Amino acid sequence: MVRFENISITFPDKKNPLKAVDDVSFDIRKGEIFGIVGSSGAGKSTLLRTINLLQRPTSGSVFVNGADITHLKGENLRRLRLKIGMIFQQFNLIRSKTVYENIAFALSVAGKSKDEIKTLVPEALDVVGLSDKAGAYPSNLSGGQKQRVGIARAIANRPEILLCDEPTSALDPETTESVLKLLKDINIKLGITTVIITHEMNVIKRICNRVAVMSGGKVLELDDIFNVFSSPAHEFTRGLINHTINLDLPARLKENDNNEILKIIYKGDKAEEAIISQTVRKFDVNMNILHGKIEYISDKPLGILLVRLEGKAADISRAKEYIRNNTYKIKEIDGN
Ligand SMILES: Nc1ncnc2c1ncn2[C@@H]1O[C@H](COP(=O)(O)OP(=O)(O)O)[C@@H](O)[C@H]1O
Ligand SMILES: [Mg+2]
Repeated sequence: MVRFENISITFPDKKNPLKAVDDVSFDIRKGEIFGIVGSSGAGKSTLLRTINLLQRPTSGSVFVNGADITHLKGENLRRLRLKIGMIFQQFNLIRSKTVYENIAFALSVAGKSKDEIKTLVPEALDVVGLSDKAGAYPSNLSGGQKQRVGIARAIANRPEILLCDEPTSALDPETTESVLKLLKDINIKLGITTVIITHEMNVIKRICNRVAVMSGGKVLELDDIFNVFSSPAHEFTRGLINHTINLDLPARLKENDNNEILKIIYKGDKAEEAIISQTVRKFDVNMNILHGKIEYISDKPLGILLVRLEGKAADISRAKEYIRNNTYKIKEIDGN
């Protein structure tokens, strides 16, 4: 659906030119919710804006639906932009226009007729649950309602791609939750390929299918979010994830110098009681749970269990082998 091929973007600067995006290549698939996460200044917005050419790459190519869009101009560029909606952290609504007029204005700029606008605006307001606010002005809406208007405006034209630049960063946690749910519903109902950039791993965890982690203009890793959350490949990613899921062990346990403490990570289709009770039944060992929790990664459960195995060395080693074969991942805690 979207393909970045060796994208670099350099901004001129008096002293040193700044490389905001540094040789980035990856694909975003049709219909998915793709997240780009990273700290402020990582180059996320700059990269995102190449998809609708609000930003042109210094080098490299961007493809949308298989076509190279990098050098589109005039009417072709206008047509590309009709396929792509965008929402922003600060909503960017026109304060002097009502909710209805904000959406109608965007549609008229996109070349829709008065009749089409009369159908499309109520339809979009219905999707975001704001039919009763058509006559309200932005100043009379809550943050969450303003972002819903932003979303209605972005999808009114029935685009194929929705770009979201920090869509929930100005919202409180509860409103964030409801806006993310709305974005997910829209993605499923309307099949819009959605790209979300955020500095919050929690947003990724909540709704994305895949994620690219960016730092210093580069993509450090890219994978299914379940894989990234359960086995982050990069130290930087671990740091981001630790804000939402703590995969590290308490320091006191790290000091343990034998191999009998295990961290077991299992996918939710394997119940933890089953792993524990079967291991204890089959082998002559005791298993004490030190810590256990389940995290939901985009509605898929991920179990994290910290256990201490007690018994004879040979029994412990057979028990470990059994656990290893019956869970997703197992790590022996050896102080690292
Ligand atoms: N138009 C611009 N001119 C000069 N520098 C820019 C411009 N846009 C972004 N930058 C710089 O590029 C880097 C990446 O910015 P940005 O893409 O906005 O990061 P992010 O969205 O990850 O916070 C930052 O150092 C930023 O200051
Ligand atoms: Mg940004």
